[in-house]
Amino acid sequence: MNHFLDIHKTDAADLRQIIDGARATKEARKGQPKGTPDADQPLKNHMVALIFEKPSTRTRVSFDLGVRQMGGQTMVLSGSEMQLGHGETIADTARVLSRYVDLIMMRTFEEQTLLEMAEFADVPVINSLTNRSHPCQIMADVMTFEEHRGPIAGKKVVWSGDGNNVFASFAHAAQRFDFDLTFTGPEPLDPEEALDGMYQVERDPFKAVDGADLVVTDTWVSMHDPQSARERRHNQLRGYQVNADLMAHAKPDALFMHCLPAHRNDEATSEVMDGPHSVIFDEAENRLHAQKAIMRWCVGG
Ligand code: CP
Ligand code: NVA
Repeated sequence: MNHFLDIHKTDAADLRQIIDGARATKEARKGQPKGTPDADQPLKNHMVALIFEKPSTRTRVSFDLGVRQMGGQTMVLSGSEMQLGHGETIADTARVLSRYVDLIMMRTFEEQTLLEMAEFADVPVINSLTNRSHPCQIMADVMTFEEHRGPIAGKKVVWSGDGNNVFASFAHAAQRFDFDLTFTGPEPLDPEEALDGMYQVERDPFKAVDGADLVVTDTWVSMHDPQSARERRHNQLRGYQVNADLMAHAKPDALFMHCLPAHRNDEATSEVMDGPHSVIFDEAENRLHAQKAIMRWCVGG
């Protein structure tokens, strides 16, 4: 079963096939209205469940559109409205959904929920964000980097900010796509221990971005973080804001990424987000193309 649960759980050759496939499909569709069906229809007659236990703009719209372009149909389900939120086990939910749909995409809190869904489903399951990782986002980000700068292998990527779920998928990708990853942020917000050895640490953000080909950040308070931590995190992370001064210490042609949604002028200034280094809206677009290639791989196309 081709579940897409995490980048480090997927073969490097398959990941490469997904990125290259995504670029080819994007190219083939260029200039067409968004609702135009793709030339081939790998999801023809397929029903796809999109389950959300957290809010979403990009993931929801890009998966829904992608399925339609590939000839399939979607059901968008909110976790709280399903029996999932009222005590039915994940295992039973997985077995039931497998009788109705051909593919399950899930955004949830605990990783364990996703893993149980995959264990008990008879159809492929895709991780569209847990508290621990966000692999679809980083597939889009690798694709975006390579569109602008060629192969990411051997390049220097610097993450400035919270060592969160999006960082974790960057760490997994650094191994699979063979790039160099540096984390810069305050010690209390270090990435989880399971990622040790996959990246370097440099506490000084200006030293960290020296020689960087790509600078990345994300929100200082994630959806699973308690709102009560907001003020403390802002104080801890203020020095790690990505602003024009910081970008000036990276390579002159360095790219800037943020998965969005952003809190402008907190983790990154509008000057950087809207400036010449920024590829944030290409990242958002490439969610569509990368996820289509992921779904194709899941159904064996
Ligand atoms: N980047 C991302 O996953 O955005 P949404 O939360 O809007 O889906
Ligand atoms: N780290 C963020 C990413 C949102 C796409 C969160 O988990 O809320």
